[in-house]
Amino acid sequence: MNLEMLEEEKRSAAIASSKLLKDGMLLGLGTGSTVKFLIEEIGNLINEKGWSISCVPTSRSSEKLAREKGIEIVENPDRKLDLDIDGADEADSYGNLIKGGGGALTREKIVAVNSRKVCIIIDHSKYCPDGLGKFRLPVEVLPFMSNSTAENIKSMGASVAFRDGGKFVTDNGNLILDCDFGIIKEPQNLEIKLKAVPGVVEVGLFCGIADLIIMGTGSGTREIFRK
Ligand code: 5RP
Repeated sequence: MNLEMLEEEKRSAAIASSKLLKDGMLLGLGTGSTVKFLIEEIGNLINEKGWSISCVPTSRSSEKLAREKGIEIVENPDRKLDLDIDGADEADSYGNLIKGGGGALTREKIVAVNSRKVCIIIDHSKYCPDGLGKFRLPVEVLPFMSNSTAENIKSMGASVAFRDGGKFVTDNGNLILDCDFGIIKEPQNLEIKLKAVPGVVEVGLFCGIADLIIMGTGSGTREIFRK
């Protein structure tokens, strides 16, 4: 499968998810190359149909793109978001996800759990019916004593590496540990255990959060999960 075909799958998943949008919606806007196609489509809806869409972006990069397309930015809404649309690094058939390849997992999780509906858009390479874990699990940690936090996660059976040797800094001023636990048999348990490690800000496992997962295929799109 070449890159152009994957791009086309991302685009088709994004366009399919845009059918859930309505004029006036307050949207959770994810991060990544799949969501970029969605942002473009929202720009078209604003320009061609005169729609008004506002959003809480999950990263500075999505915020910048959204502003360029005329999407209003809301920072601290006082109500639930109508819909969150985001990408993922891996998805299983139960709707569990690994996210954080772009380092935006903390804001992505806050936005997702505070949305009425969460739609995930992926290309076929992200679908892992045999279990999550080929993609190294991103964990956001405080810089303070982060070597110790890394050791504590290692002792749980993972091999662990600071992203970009510790040079990658999240929008929240923290570091990312990319953790290899092998195939993750009980993602929800692992999420709970990792969250209990002091210094861990957020874990890139999203269990029970997605309502709908739309996957691009070579010939259109397929729903691989619906709650
Ligand atoms: C960012 C994320 C992204 O949703 C994930 O990395 C997928 O990105 P892409 O659509 O570029 O493959 O979790 O933190």
